[in-house]
Amino acid sequence: MKILVATQKPFAAAAVNGIKEILETAGHEVAMLEKYAAQEDLVAAVADADAMIVRSDKVTPEVIAAAPKLKIVVRAGAGFDNVDLAAASARGIVVMNTPGQNSNAVAELAIAMMIFMARTQFTPATGSEVSGKRLGVQAYGNVGRLVGQKARALGMEISALDPFLTDEQIIAGGADPVHSVEELYACSDYLSIHIPALPATIKSIGYDLITRMPKGATLVNTARKEVIDEEGLMRALGERPDLKYITDVMPDNYAALQEKFGLRVFATPKKMGAQTAEANINAGLAAARQIVDYFATGNTRFQVNR
Ligand code: 3PG
Repeated sequence: MKILVATQKPFAAAAVNGIKEILETAGHEVAMLEKYAAQEDLVAAVADADAMIVRSDKVTPEVIAAAPKLKIVVRAGAGFDNVDLAAASARGIVVMNTPGQNSNAVAELAIAMMIFMARTQFTPATGSEVSGKRLGVQAYGNVGRLVGQKARALGMEISALDPFLTDEQIIAGGADPVHSVEELYACSDYLSIHIPALPATIKSIGYDLITRMPKGATLVNTARKEVIDEEGLMRALGERPDLKYITDVMPDNYAALQEKFGLRVFATPKKMGAQTAEANINAGLAAARQIVDYFATGNTRFQVNR
């Protein structure tokens, strides 16, 4: 089978070598498309692909239509909002993710972002400490739990909201359960977002929730920019000069936010949460193994478009 590894944001070299070794040892052929300039390059590259490994690359209906032999797409990572599941399902193409494989990298970045903002973006201005503060985690999945664990070690108190977990499970994960998003925002000196971008979550965090946060609070977004209502965020930061926002997913209105709010806002230029060698190796090799297993045994354990 021909496996296309299409990564606009390439994996670390060690991950690429590992992916090739796994796929070639199983008798597959590997084609690489890295740092491509335009979506048309991806459309052209899928023409003879039987399988694809992608990151945040956009697997649109156009890409799927251009890939008549495609049988499986594995998103090496957690969020699969970049893959058009309906178009894939309509063709019987299996879509998988690799849950948990890059979670630690994202969790470490969320912690780093809290401290970066507590210390006024590493300027000489007097900052504050995260120890003794309350961190709200929305939601308590693979990344959220790791953020909670690391924050506890820093002396923070943790509150968590997760519609898929019982109170007992949240408590076992070291957090105090809360039962509404309003309650979570109202109690959190730091709020770390770990929800996927879905129709129900897109633009779900806006003025009303953000202004519920306590005095001096910081909102940390290592999830998806789409879950923020950017107009609401702008209004909330304008009315509440004590609030801060840091994000690994640059907002569309970042220039305006920076101009108005200076050191109270920060965005990474390109999503970097999962961009560590370790996360690339974990997620990339898991993706390669899942493809080998799928073609060898039909294993669909991590399929997301059932
Ligand atoms: C994920 O959903 O796994 C993360 O957002 C990482 O995305 P990336 O592979 O594009 O860095």
